[in-house]
Amino acid sequence: MNDDGGRATPAINDESRVSKPAYKIQKIGIIGAGQMGSGIAHVTALAGYDVNVFDISEEQLKKAVAGIDKNMERQVSRDRIKAADKAAAMARIQTNSLMDSLSDSDLVIEAATENEEIKRRIFIDLCPVLKDDALLCSNTSSISITRLGAVTDRPEQFMGLHFMNPVPVMKLVELIRGIATAEPTFSAVRKVAENLGKQTVSSEDFPAFIVNRILIPMINEAIYTLYEGVGSVSAVDTAMKLGANHPMGPLELADFIGLDTCLSIMTVLYDGLADSKYRPCPLLVKYVEAGWLGRKAGKGFYDYSGEEPVPTR
Ligand code: CAA
Repeated sequence: MNDDGGRATPAINDESRVSKPAYKIQKIGIIGAGQMGSGIAHVTALAGYDVNVFDISEEQLKKAVAGIDKNMERQVSRDRIKAADKAAAMARIQTNSLMDSLSDSDLVIEAATENEEIKRRIFIDLCPVLKDDALLCSNTSSISITRLGAVTDRPEQFMGLHFMNPVPVMKLVELIRGIATAEPTFSAVRKVAENLGKQTVSSEDFPAFIVNRILIPMINEAIYTLYEGVGSVSAVDTAMKLGANHPMGPLELADFIGLDTCLSIMTVLYDGLADSKYRPCPLLVKYVEAGWLGRKAGKGFYDYSGEEPVPTR
């Protein structure tokens, strides 16, 4: 383990990695059993991959498996998948709280909290555990892939693979090359995304990539609209649902994504692009400081403790 916060030591020389023709991917490791990690485990297991979900919290792992089971059951009840497919997929999902368990993974997808320091620590601890030819992806929704890749011992075998929430439903996956990402890495990861039935788009490595570069400032603007008293929570959401045909209003969507994640992404945009138009709304900051993080916390722009969500302003 490299403890100095710097780049882990390469296990083999970079040349041999660049020239590797193709990667065979069957075992997928997932780091983080939150809503994104669970969703990624759900779709990869259903697509026939052997999945190992790692999280430091056993309790979070249990919650994740129960959530995946429930979401697959919903797909069974709506005739989207067969009960036998669900059983086979659930049997392909292992969970583990020891990072060493990822040592036989062909591909590891990191889906930890959207915090650069946490992700850096994970990569520094993870790299010595991995096989030399293992590929590594981050599901980061905003952080520089080049910068994250530089922490690893394999920037050529590292790239961004960004899923949307809810992962089983959303058709898109963004693919992001860091400056060092090698072509065989990109093709192998794109193939995995296609095997999951996802449509891919390729984004350059700029803050928040494509979807969040556009979506999160829209959500931030909706929060300013509330903050400045232009409209109430219900008015803002109803306006955008019925006036712009969005499936969820922006405040409802912010709660669904997580207000901490929305704030992290706005901060990455503000710092990375140095433009005041990305200034996070003070009301968003206040909600995060209060721990009102949205659905996962039971409270955000709506209170989720009753039968129906109730606006908190
Ligand atoms: N797992 C599996 N299936 C799920 C699911 C889940 N977690 N959640 C919903 N579904 C399925 C339902 O089973 C249903 O399937 P069928 O059409 O096959 O019957 C379908 O999704 C629609 O669900 P519902 O009828 O229950 O609910 P809905 O019509 O209100 O749709 C929604 C729910 C799909 C979430 C819809 O509201 C929506 O598309 N919202 C916008 C989501 C969005 O914008 N996501 C992107 C967020 S940004 C992001 O993720 C990037 C980032 O980095 C922050």
